[in-house]
Amino acid sequence: MAVDVAELLSRELGGDRVLRAPEALEPYGRDESGRGVFPPDAAVLCESRAEIELVLRLASEHGIPVTPRGTGTGMTGGALPVRGGLVLSTERMKKIVDISVDDRIAIVEPGVINADLQAAVEAESMFYAPDPASLAMCSMGGNVAENAGGPRAFKYGVTRDWTLGLVVTLMGGETLRLGRKTPKGVTGYDLTALFVGSEGTFGVTSEITVKLVGRPEGVGTLVAIMPDAASAGRAVSAVVRKGYRPRALELMDRATIEHVRPKAAFTFPANAGSLVLIELDGEPEGMEASLLRCGGVCEELGATDVIIARDDADRERLWSARRSCSRALREAHAFKLSEDIVVPPGSIAEMLARIDGIAAKERLMTATFGHAGDGNLHVNVLTDENHRDAAVAARIDAALGGVFRAALDLGGTLSGEHGIGISKARYMAWEQSAEVIGWQRRLKRLWDPQELLNPGKIFT
Ligand code: MLT
Ligand code: ZN
Repeated sequence: MAVDVAELLSRELGGDRVLRAPEALEPYGRDESGRGVFPPDAAVLCESRAEIELVLRLASEHGIPVTPRGTGTGMTGGALPVRGGLVLSTERMKKIVDISVDDRIAIVEPGVINADLQAAVEAESMFYAPDPASLAMCSMGGNVAENAGGPRAFKYGVTRDWTLGLVVTLMGGETLRLGRKTPKGVTGYDLTALFVGSEGTFGVTSEITVKLVGRPEGVGTLVAIMPDAASAGRAVSAVVRKGYRPRALELMDRATIEHVRPKAAFTFPANAGSLVLIELDGEPEGMEASLLRCGGVCEELGATDVIIARDDADRERLWSARRSCSRALREAHAFKLSEDIVVPPGSIAEMLARIDGIAAKERLMTATFGHAGDGNLHVNVLTDENHRDAAVAARIDAALGGVFRAALDLGGTLSGEHGIGISKARYMAWEQSAEVIGWQRRLKRLWDPQELLNPGKIFT
């Protein structure tokens, strides 16, 4: 059946736009979740809204599942075509349609890469804050689908906070223009906010309007080397309590630092027990003094070293090391699963202690880093054993369950930025009541009564 639709689409769009050969499809069955390969029956490379409408109309008429896809950098399997059918890729829709400095907005197609948008608006002295670690590869459509965050979310919020409007096409081919282009607006229900973070299960985005702000003139960055992860957790809380509002407030534990160190252009002091990374932005005057005071707060809590980035190049070396955490961990081990729980910030030290306990109990390695200012921790479960072995798999499962249980016990949540996808669907009921899940399912059926758009995601 899927092949018939693929054939129809090939005729309409041209054969080169509908991939069907197994080797061409293989990359469209993967993402960064490490959850396996699910090749679709065909992948359609859309280049316009009209083509998205055509794909969703034909697929609906023929009852074929469609999985929307950006650049496949998702961490929870949101773009994996787990029920086969078609992958609808928006990777070729890469136009920055407009940047209006006076109106403080940018309008982009979904395939625009996050870093390209940032560079384009910064060239106009404007600023778009959401900065996922994969910003050099991830697309704005994927950012919208997953409500992506990043280090700067601590001060500036996540993709939803920056998305003013969307053009979305529903399964069946109907297109809706949601939201607005103005900084303020409360007309009707906020469907834009609802679609952001819906993990591609409500509609496919063909245009995104984001807000911009003026580019901050000054940026200052420091790293405080802490004796252990618990003191890093305490330092994070203390910096905020003292009234500082860094744009990024990150933590890396010892295991993460040791994995990143060998390839990092930034030199981490030997024997770092953990680190806190603090980045301020705003008026250049007084920035250095504020940074030093933040460093002082960390020293009061045991920092053995406070290193200030001397210039942009130094800052970039540090951030590229930070962004390489996930890759360094993956390259070093046969198996890695990355989670992104959030705990109330006051519970970070307790959560880190519980992670150590879980790792010891299940005889697995862990490495934890992330956006500690937001309480958002990327807990990585690592092993060099064969994870397909049933006993090893059971220990991994127990460790993951333990991490989620601990986060929820402390008043936290399952996901801060990576979404639920397929990875965490079975834990949804641990956090949310059957009624709340039921209402979300009803919403899904409202937008997609056939349940053909990105099926198998978020809910079991
Ligand atoms: C990060 O902050 O580095 C990513 O969101 C986490 C990851 O890639 O595991
Ligand atoms: Zn992250």
